[in-house]
Amino acid sequence: EKIKLDINSVLKFVSEKEIRQIESEEATKAIDMVKNGTGEGNDFLGWYDLPSRTSMKELDEIIEVANDLRNSCEYVVSVGIGGSYLGAKAVIEALNNSFDAYTSTSKGAPKVLFAGQNIGEEYLAELQEFLKDKKFGIIVISKSGTTTEPAIAFRLLKEQLEAQAGKEAAKNLIVAITDAKRGALRQLATEESYRTFVIEDNVGGRFSVLTPVGLLPIAVAGYDIKKLVKGAAEMEKELANASDSNMAELYASTRNALYRAGKKTEILVNYNPKLHFFGEWWKQLYGESEGKDHKGIFPAAVDFSTDLHSMGQWIQDGERTIFETVISVEKSKSEKLIPSDEANLDGLNYIAGKHVDDVNKMAELGTRIAHVDGGVPNMRIIVPELSEEYLGQLIYFFEISCGISGYLLGVNPFNQPGVEAYKKNMFALLEKPGYEEATKEIKAKL
Ligand code: PA5
Repeated sequence: EKIKLDINSVLKFVSEKEIRQIESEEATKAIDMVKNGTGEGNDFLGWYDLPSRTSMKELDEIIEVANDLRNSCEYVVSVGIGGSYLGAKAVIEALNNSFDAYTSTSKGAPKVLFAGQNIGEEYLAELQEFLKDKKFGIIVISKSGTTTEPAIAFRLLKEQLEAQAGKEAAKNLIVAITDAKRGALRQLATEESYRTFVIEDNVGGRFSVLTPVGLLPIAVAGYDIKKLVKGAAEMEKELANASDSNMAELYASTRNALYRAGKKTEILVNYNPKLHFFGEWWKQLYGESEGKDHKGIFPAAVDFSTDLHSMGQWIQDGERTIFETVISVEKSKSEKLIPSDEANLDGLNYIAGKHVDDVNKMAELGTRIAHVDGGVPNMRIIVPELSEEYLGQLIYFFEISCGISGYLLGVNPFNQPGVEAYKKNMFALLEKPGYEEATKEIKAKL
């Protein structure tokens, strides 16, 4: 079974003819550009055939290190930001028990915590206080090896781990994932003889979830990375060639048809709180890939039905410049029936005996009809259930669609020049050596 795409609730707003025209005239070319590396950014296409060329041996090596951390730690802190954080967080949250953070932990089944994804002094102080009497390990992830946020978190956590476990023991509890040769983290890892995994040069951060960047934390959390990669490889095969049934081509063509019709914001919707961080991962993938040259669909995400009680009003009645893409999970993995109540004071007996998920599905259908009636085009991505294999399919589907979509928009989907502007100002304000001129310039603006 595979994930599916349904665009029927879009056709009131843009015709199938328009979409198919973009598909046949532009998307088929775009898919070839991705496949053959003939477009801009072609030095960052390593993700394209990554699932099929990842060997069992490579996965076994990751699993071996993950098992070692699992056996020696109660907690493993994954340190990274952006593409070095969101993929692992998205997959772990999608598969985890929602109350994982409140259940007890043990060696053999550690919990994965995250750091380096912000510069919150309170966050770091609280994390360190929490880890004070715990056996923990660190996976430090940075492709460039020089990103400020994870570097600060790692400096603090490394010092703490060395103090708690001893300098020699700490070396076995730290794993670094970084560039093969360059960067401060590679140098540190070599000097300290940490175990390392390499992020290939030609895989950008937001496309790196299926490399050790995502796979090691996911394996430490206890999930089956072989199934995740298998799911992605199935999609890689399925979406390799242009055809009428290629859902990546269709998704990319539909969202671009909507964008050209004035729908400038895409909202990724879920009806399962476990997918909240999948929305965050997707926002980075599309935002960083497409928002450039003063163009690009703005990627937003909501969790329904929760946000129907907050953002629902805007979506139903606000400015008509949005469309929705709903991730619709068909099957719940747990069962909960609504009980009958003799007094029926809450008036809920009409749904007694139904599954909670039956109600959720009617909320989803009712919302789709209301939003389409209210002027919001809707696409649906149907996922049979939340499992490693389907998440792998979904990840690869969104990655290749993103490459195609970026080329349809006329941008280089694989760079991120805009990310540097804030860093330059921050370094200038912090008076980093080498930034003397920038410091003078920025201070003159204050
Ligand atoms: O997608 C990207 O390139 C970024 O989001 C990076 O992943 C992020 O800035 C972290 O970079 P690094 O892994 O070099 O620390």
